[in-house]
Amino acid sequence: MADLFDKCRASAREMEAIAAGVYPYFKAISKLGGTHVTVDGRDMIMVGSNNYLGLSTHPKVRAAALQALEEYGTTCSGSPLLNGTLELHEQLEAGLAAFMGKEAVRIFSTGFQTSQGVIAPLIGRSDTVVVDRLVHASIVDGTRLGFGKVRRFRHNDVESLRRNLEASMDSPGGILVVVDGVYSMEGNLAALPGIVAACKDFNARIMVDDAHGVGVFGKTGAGVLEHFGLTDDVDLVMGTFSKSFASLGGFVAGPKRVISYIKHNSRALIFAAAMPPAATAAALAALEVIQTEPEIRENLWRNTRFLKENIVGLGFDPGPTESPVVPIIVGDDVMVLLFWHRLFQEGLFTNCVLSPAVAQGQQRIRMCAMATHTQEDLERVVEICGRVGRELGLIR
Ligand SMILES: Cc1ncc(COP(=O)(O)O)c(C=O)c1O
Repeated sequence: MADLFDKCRASAREMEAIAAGVYPYFKAISKLGGTHVTVDGRDMIMVGSNNYLGLSTHPKVRAAALQALEEYGTTCSGSPLLNGTLELHEQLEAGLAAFMGKEAVRIFSTGFQTSQGVIAPLIGRSDTVVVDRLVHASIVDGTRLGFGKVRRFRHNDVESLRRNLEASMDSPGGILVVVDGVYSMEGNLAALPGIVAACKDFNARIMVDDAHGVGVFGKTGAGVLEHFGLTDDVDLVMGTFSKSFASLGGFVAGPKRVISYIKHNSRALIFAAAMPPAATAAALAALEVIQTEPEIRENLWRNTRFLKENIVGLGFDPGPTESPVVPIIVGDDVMVLLFWHRLFQEGLFTNCVLSPAVAQGQQRIRMCAMATHTQEDLERVVEICGRVGRELGLIR
């Protein structure tokens, strides 16, 4: 009989990366200052963060978190169902419902729990959930926790979605289609108009995970639904506070009766402690900043354009990105690890993305523009990427 722990050894890829001194994960940061961080005593430019609007250092957001810490202490020490609901949580939910243009909102302690905690209770034995092949891991796990049938369609392929919906029609239950608003490793948007039309034709409900879209897209920053003018056509939209909201936690917005059902049936909500007061206050303050300081979003888009245009200008391939996510596709494990390592040595903190986070051949460096990067920061990013890319023969 095998020992259960036999599987607990490093993969060959992991061991080789460690032996070669190019292991790119779990890098400990000693000082976190938004666009600049300190690692191993060195100042680095952070281009690997989802803090798109740079609000983690915004004075109003910091002040709100500090004040909540003073007033409430560090934790709620319990589930929202029992002792973990603060008036602060209710204020955040009401503010988000108005911002997202939906009847009601439920918040969760993380974005990951939100996808799980919404999908699992909605998908009963006779129901079907249909997801894009590239949806976030939290959605995949949510579908695994539901009791219904799971189908996957080709990435952003509306015909493939329609075929899957057609095939689901003989089942007696309902259908939920789930897509990401912005695909986080690729940076492209869901083909939402076609997807929404298909859902209407087949009487399917639709949920969008807009973790990377809220605060970034749309006239008021309400995300990709607003961007496409489809706010009223999408049943459920979820977001996370760990990106543009500069905090930790997640939310789902939708019809009152569905939110009430989730509140009373979601295990990820009922059996987990509530968002801590400081994180809640930070998200609430960030929501206000997103609504009252649109120039921050304009800065983000200006910086995004600069970074993307210059990365393309150097001869790199960023793939189909339409968002502040700016990848450099390298397509090979060894080369992407080396590239990441040399960028890190030169003072750039980027994300090294290998399979299974992306398909084989799509290995990449993932960078994100932030509203608070200075022109000098971005020029340095471009200069380093160009120099190291030429050194490694990735570009000419
Ligand atoms: C699309 C998407 N959904 C959900 C999540 C989970 O959010 P959190 O990390 O805030 O728990 C993420 C985080 O990376 C994400 O990218």
